[in-house]
Amino acid sequence: MNSSPDITESDPEIALQALNLFEKRFGTSPIVAHAPGRINLIGEHVDYLDGVVLPMAIDRRAAVAIAASKDGRTTIAAPDLGIEVAWDGPPPRHAIETSEHRFANHLLGVIAAAGGTSQPVSILVTSEIPAGAGVSSSAAIEVAAGAAWSVFQGTNPDDPLRLARDAQRAEHEFVGTPCGIMDMLVSAAAEADAALRIDCRTLEFGAVPLPGADRLAFLLVDSGVSHRLADGGYADRRAACERVVEALGISLRDATSEMVDSLTIDAVDRRRAHHVINEIRRVDQAIVMLGQGDLAGLGSVMLDGHASLRDLFEVSVPELDLIVETASHLREDGCFGARMTGGGFGGAAIVLADPSRLDLVRKTIEDAFQARFDRRPDCFRVRSVEGVRIATGA
Ligand code: GLA
Repeated sequence: MNSSPDITESDPEIALQALNLFEKRFGTSPIVAHAPGRINLIGEHVDYLDGVVLPMAIDRRAAVAIAASKDGRTTIAAPDLGIEVAWDGPPPRHAIETSEHRFANHLLGVIAAAGGTSQPVSILVTSEIPAGAGVSSSAAIEVAAGAAWSVFQGTNPDDPLRLARDAQRAEHEFVGTPCGIMDMLVSAAAEADAALRIDCRTLEFGAVPLPGADRLAFLLVDSGVSHRLADGGYADRRAACERVVEALGISLRDATSEMVDSLTIDAVDRRRAHHVINEIRRVDQAIVMLGQGDLAGLGSVMLDGHASLRDLFEVSVPELDLIVETASHLREDGCFGARMTGGGFGGAAIVLADPSRLDLVRKTIEDAFQARFDRRPDCFRVRSVEGVRIATGA
């Protein structure tokens, strides 16, 4: 990770924005770190089941600025959301329950996971990652917070696994989402122009190079249906899979569909487990396709993944299905494939297209969405970028 003493022109705009907002609000110079959101190419709902995943960090980042408090109070400000919350003394070591201030739990959770402090601090968050689109705006904030906090505390910020684990603990213990490690680890460890293969059992990770931006474009299509993983559907899917693991006596990573079929279990639980077993295989297939430069093959694997999330895991919504179905009809017209990305229950789909045909693919999807849902979805091209960075060492 780069550690430079001043915000430089090579730092992204969002870092400068965090610095300016912080100085305006608190009248002092902070440490700033910034981290990306992500899409997941394949490997959905398998990270909390020892699976393998293939996410990619995207060129939308969140920045967190931290400095010692000058007024004896701990303040967390998120001007983008119009939120500011403060306490006398150091940051609380427990989650905040009041709904309008729950946002602070992402920060308080990371600080607590890193060991807490007896010092009052000032913190400001700003982000260009759409919230509720399933592209990990929360993980980006937590990872950026962890990196800025490490520098602030004089500890080593160059440990992606520790940053990811602290962020995950924040989600589990403060935010209330029993998520896996994928989102935070890719935000911490991603490399540019590559996806990140993460083995969620061993926690080994490594870059998988992607074709150049002249060969492959990633279009993010936000369904506009806001997903909230803390609402129960996610925990419900996780619990179903854990029941099957319990009945099998082995991890779904090591199980076959036949083994699952031989169990006497609930039919819904069985479907969930089938998704997981096949999805882990699809990740390996996708990596082979990428290695061979077979983008049509990669697209087919993604379409299969979507069908499984829709029919077996049941975490898609009609808006996402329509985007993916429309994309699948454009396979002769420059579209390789598409799928919903992230936890589901809303959020976004990713569409892989030939960059020279992207405008047509995009317009066709927007028009089809408009015809069915009477509004245009937010669409933007995303690029693969590097993970968390420190913008200023103050
Ligand atoms: C959310 C979670 C991740 C992962 C995905 C589904 O993004 O935060 O840990 O489980 O859903 O793949």
